[in-house]
Amino acid sequence: MTEILNVLFWVVIWFTVFQIVTRIYWRIHRFPLPPILGYMLDGAFRKSLQWPKTVGKRCGIKAGMKVLEVGCGSGAFTTEFARLTGPEGVLFVVDIQEGMLIQLRKKLKKSEYSDISNMGIIAYSPENWPTSSVAAFWGRLYP
Ligand SMILES: C[S@@+](CC[C@H](N)C(=O)[O-])C[C@H]1O[C@@H](n2cnc3c(N)ncnc32)[C@H](O)[C@@H]1O
Repeated sequence: MTEILNVLFWVVIWFTVFQIVTRIYWRIHRFPLPPILGYMLDGAFRKSLQWPKTVGKRCGIKAGMKVLEVGCGSGAFTTEFARLTGPEGVLFVVDIQEGMLIQLRKKLKKSEYSDISNMGIIAYSPENWPTSSVAAFWGRLYP
């Protein structure tokens, strides 16, 4: 028991130190989350804490809307957002890192997402952004 508590103690300490150091560093040198961590973002553990469908609903996404998700990353929320917009709506996603969009495209090829046909994926370029109303916003942006 003491062993477990000891391990837990150090995990918490290292996690806290990591969070503090990276946040201070991020304030000085802003950088987007590297694509290598995209797989972690889209993991089951995170989704058990942050429910994509609920987040989408709380953002106000409804069937038929045109939605722009800025900073979609590897698509942890994207597929549920797309489902909420439904076949009448459209979800545009944008990310400055091609590495993240590659992971998202790979994810969308899986059979469990074959129902998502209404999705437009646009690479970052301000002039390409849809000008119609933006209904949802999710992400931490660089710079
Ligand atoms: C912390 S990740 C979160 C990804 C996703 N929204 C999620 O919750 O899993 C932030 C993402 O926003 C992207 N990003 C940062 N600044 C951006 C910008 N100015 N325009 C578009 N995407 C941006 C990064 O490349 C990164 O993939």
